[in-house]
Amino acid sequence: MTSLKGKYGVITGGASGIGLAIATAFTAEGCHVTIADRASEDKLVAAASQARAQARRLDVANESEITSLFGSVAKQGGIDILVNCAGILIEKPLLETSAGDFDRLIGVNLKGVFLAGREALRLMVRQDRGGRVINIASELAYLGRENCSVYCASKGGVLSMTRSWAREFAPKILVNAIAPGPTDTPMLGIEQTSPETRAKETQNPLGRLGQPEEIAAAAVFLAGPGATFMTGQCVSPNGGTAMF
Ligand SMILES: NC(=O)c1ccc[n+]([C@@H]2O[C@H](COP(=O)([O-])OP(=O)(O)OC[C@H]3O[C@@H](n4cnc5c(N)ncnc54)[C@H](O)[C@@H]3O)[C@@H](O)[C@H]2O)c1
Repeated sequence: MTSLKGKYGVITGGASGIGLAIATAFTAEGCHVTIADRASEDKLVAAASQARAQARRLDVANESEITSLFGSVAKQGGIDILVNCAGILIEKPLLETSAGDFDRLIGVNLKGVFLAGREALRLMVRQDRGGRVINIASELAYLGRENCSVYCASKGGVLSMTRSWAREFAPKILVNAIAPGPTDTPMLGIEQTSPETRAKETQNPLGRLGQPEEIAAAAVFLAGPGATFMTGQCVSPNGGTAMF
């Protein structure tokens, strides 16, 4: 498995769930991976060891931490692939959603993608050796979901930014998104979502949750030699919930 042999990748949110599966799949394909995540030091060390990757503790919403990460990346092989996977979910009725909740969701899910994307693209342009950016959105960007409107809006923003970057950085750098359906990760875990929401998650034609590895397979494709004519697209491993 060598489709990403010799490439350098950064995966935000790579310490858990979908990001960890992507990190693991990328290293298995020969990529040098750096996980960038705000998880505890213990969790980061365990994730790095599982994925055979390097890890860096940071908050994607913090501009100076992101700038510093890409400063180090520039000195250690540079970057060929960025996966923006860090994200949070706050499930609340709109009427109970505070401005602070809005700022947190947009800060991580949209500003975080903007900051890491901008710094990675700056470096890719300077390196002049092409590159791939893969932004993790959600099928909920299309479908909407009660009690999750700000989360859905943040993911809609990710899709819009993906299309604009695809145009702005063509033809050398390809920018695509993945819109996963409900996937079996800690984000869908008992503390994060209501029983009603979890019950809804398997109501797709395939009748089950996705596994993180099934989302990672889409990322390996978009990062690899099979996706050279794809930019501004959204790949949707979602069990058939939303069909386009
Ligand atoms: N699980 C699903 O059903 C599902 C469906 C569609 C989209 N997604 C998206 O997939 C991505 C990964 O989600 P997951 O299900 O693997 O969740 P997860 O909670 O297992 O992993 C999210 C990771 O992001 C990290 N993170 C959160 N905020 C951060 C910050 N400010 N800075 C750095 N790291 C931060 C967390 O520490 C964690 O390691 C998210 O963007 C999520 O919105 C998930």
